[in-house]
Amino acid sequence: MLEVERLRAGYEGADVLHGVSVSVEPSSLVAVIGANGAGKSTLLRAMSGLIRRSAGSLSVDGRRLQFRSEREVVRAGIAHVPEGRQVFANLTVLENLHLGAYAVKDAGEVAARVEDMLGLFPALRSRLRHYAGSLSGGQQQMLAIARGLMGRPKYLLLDEPSLGLAPLVVETIFQVIVELRRRDVGVLLVEQNGWLALSNADRACLLEQGRITLTGTGKELLENPIVVERYLGVGAAIGETERHRGLGEQLRRALAL
Ligand SMILES: Nc1ncnc2c1ncn2[C@@H]1O[C@H](COP(=O)(O)OP(=O)(O)O)[C@@H](O)[C@H]1O
Ligand SMILES: [Mg+2]
Repeated sequence: MLEVERLRAGYEGADVLHGVSVSVEPSSLVAVIGANGAGKSTLLRAMSGLIRRSAGSLSVDGRRLQFRSEREVVRAGIAHVPEGRQVFANLTVLENLHLGAYAVKDAGEVAARVEDMLGLFPALRSRLRHYAGSLSGGQQQMLAIARGLMGRPKYLLLDEPSLGLAPLVVETIFQVIVELRRRDVGVLLVEQNGWLALSNADRACLLEQGRITLTGTGKELLENPIVVERYLGVGAAIGETERHRGLGEQLRRALAL
C-alpha cells in the first residue's frame, strides 16, 4: 500500500497542504477531486519528492521513504505523470519511452516494455520515430503516461490526464487505467473532471484548500450533495458529464462495479 500521512508541503515557506492523509491499495484507483488551486498537483509533487515536505510521512508497502532524492521515490516503485503532458519535445517518441526505463540495462527487456506500451497505446506505434513535440495533445498525454509506465511502477500518480482532451482520447486513457488495476498497479488520480474520476474510482476524496474534507467510495462521493453541487452538476460541467456518461457506464459494466 502507498500511504501518505499528515503531509504538509508547499512553496517558499507557506504550506499549501495542511496535513493530508491518503492511501492507495495495489490494484485500486483512488481519485482526488477538488477545485483549481486546491492543492492537487502539490500533493502529487510532494509525494514524488519534487517539492519539499515540511511534515508528514510517505511509505510504500510498509517501508517509509526518506525523500533524499526523486530517484528514491522512483526506486520505491512510484511514477509521477505531472499535469500538462510533459514530454521531451525534441526527442522522438521512442527516445522518450527509453528515458522512462533508464534504469533497465537489458535491451531486450526495454524493447519488450516498449512493445507493451504500444499495445496499451496503439496510436503511438506509427509515430515512434517522430519528435514528441509534433504529436497531438492526446498523443502527448499517452506518451507521458507510457513513459511513466516504462519503469513498471507499483503505483502511478496521475495529474489531470483528461484535461482538455477529446472524449475518444479520454476513453483510451481510462481504459489503460482499468488495465493497470488488472496488473496490480495502484493509481492515484487527480482530476477536475469529477464525474469521470469518481465513477471509476474505488475510493475517493475531496481536497479543499489543502485539506481532505470528504472521503468515501467513488460512488458515495458521486452521490454526495455537496460534491454534486460544487463539483459535478453545474453549467458547462453538465455537457462534460453527459459526454462521458456512456463511457463511465461502459467501464463500470466492464469492471462489474
Ligand atoms: N510553483 C509554485 N510556486 C508557488 N505557489 C504555487 C506553485 N504551484 C502552485 N502554487 C500554489 O499552490 C496552491 C495549490 O496549487 P496546485 O497544487 O497547483 O492546485 P491544483 O492542482 O489543485 O489546481 C495554489 O494556491 C497555487 O497558487
Ligand atoms: Mg493541478
